[in-house]
Amino acid sequence: MILVTGGAGFIGANFVLDWLAASSEPIVNLDKLTYAGNLHNLQSVQADPRHIFVQGDIGDTALLNRLLAEHKPRAVVNFAAESHVDRSIHGPEDFIQTNIVGSFRLLEAVRAHWTALPEAERAAFRFLHVSTDEVYGSLAPSDPAFVETRSFEPNSPYSASKAASDHLVRAWHHTYGLPVLTTNCSNNYGPYHFPEKLIPLMIVNALAGKNLPVYGDGMQVRDWLYVKDHCSAIRRVLEAGTPGQTYNVGGWNEKPNIEIVHMVCSLLDELRPRTDGQSYKQQITFVKDRPGHDRRYAIDARKIERELGWKPAETFDTGIRKTVQWYLEHADWVASVQTGAYRDWVQTQYAVAEPQAVGAAA
Ligand code: NAD
Ligand code: TYD
Repeated sequence: MILVTGGAGFIGANFVLDWLAASSEPIVNLDKLTYAGNLHNLQSVQADPRHIFVQGDIGDTALLNRLLAEHKPRAVVNFAAESHVDRSIHGPEDFIQTNIVGSFRLLEAVRAHWTALPEAERAAFRFLHVSTDEVYGSLAPSDPAFVETRSFEPNSPYSASKAASDHLVRAWHHTYGLPVLTTNCSNNYGPYHFPEKLIPLMIVNALAGKNLPVYGDGMQVRDWLYVKDHCSAIRRVLEAGTPGQTYNVGGWNEKPNIEIVHMVCSLLDELRPRTDGQSYKQQITFVKDRPGHDRRYAIDARKIERELGWKPAETFDTGIRKTVQWYLEHADWVASVQTGAYRDWVQTQYAVAEPQAVGAAA
């Protein structure tokens, strides 16, 4: 089996669902259930004996030791993180604790587990660290896209904490020989995306008749990838990546924020027109820019294509249409996130004390 951390969040939940749909191999899912962790995301696998959910912190060494000893995973995939740049600006402490200290504790527990494995299992073991393109910093309009050898120039507390964890992962390979893999991915979008991030926020606010807040001039560029393509890249790197290597993952899809917002509005105009016949674009409002806002990210994803044969399956046009449709069809999920009802899910569904294992096999 594999151990996944942060599997109740946006990308982690998509990964768990896709994994269980494609493979018979069980997953232990360790997630602290911060505001970003939502067990509604995993409702469809709640009764699946191959999914064992454990509420807990990647910084809890005793819990990690127990889980590793009990389940003996052949691989660990680390999604757990504080992930929102704006939150990191207002309160960086949690980012340092989880993204740096938590990753360190996880690496140490995994190293102890890996060291004690029999030779063949040691050789086959993998620790995959899920990271971001934001560690590379910001690009000028004509700069080439980020390659894996580019130096790190993180500019926000979030990206600095992710860069620190990437360095720790690298060092645990070079110093201790831990068979690590790192993926640095561009901005994701798709189902179960928490509506504090650009695309889901625009969909949810538009439907609620609220303003669509675009930071600064809206000309900051991001390179968008449909979340299920990110998940397939992680599966491929886990399967065939070379230990010690990093792989950039991206969708070859650079767009300024304002263009993204216009596309979301146009899709909503088509799929759920406003009752007054006006476009949702009327709700766009330019607001004060984010401090230290990176101007442009772009991923050069040729290495993962060349070495591992991975390419995204979705174009932005197909992925964004699926995403808008998903949000229109999941008003209950949106409502539970907005009211905070999703946070009661553990208590109401499982009624057990923390830290806990909830799942059919637990
Ligand atoms: P998210 O914020 O939606 O989910 C994070 C999950 O981690 C939540 O379920 C949360 O409860 C859990 N968590 C937080 N702290 C924890 C802790 N101390 N112990 C255990 N669990 C904890 O984030 P996401 O967007 O799904 O991102 C997942 C990973 O992918 C992160 O490492 C992020 O840096 C990386 N990433 C995200 C993007 C993106 O566009 N969202 C792009 C590239 C890389
Ligand atoms: P976000 O989804 O927070 O991802 P990241 O900062 O990790 O790239 O933001 C994506 C882009 O959208 C970023 O340039 C900031 C911008 N943005 C807005 O213009 N308005 C918003 O309300 C949000 C949340 C983001």
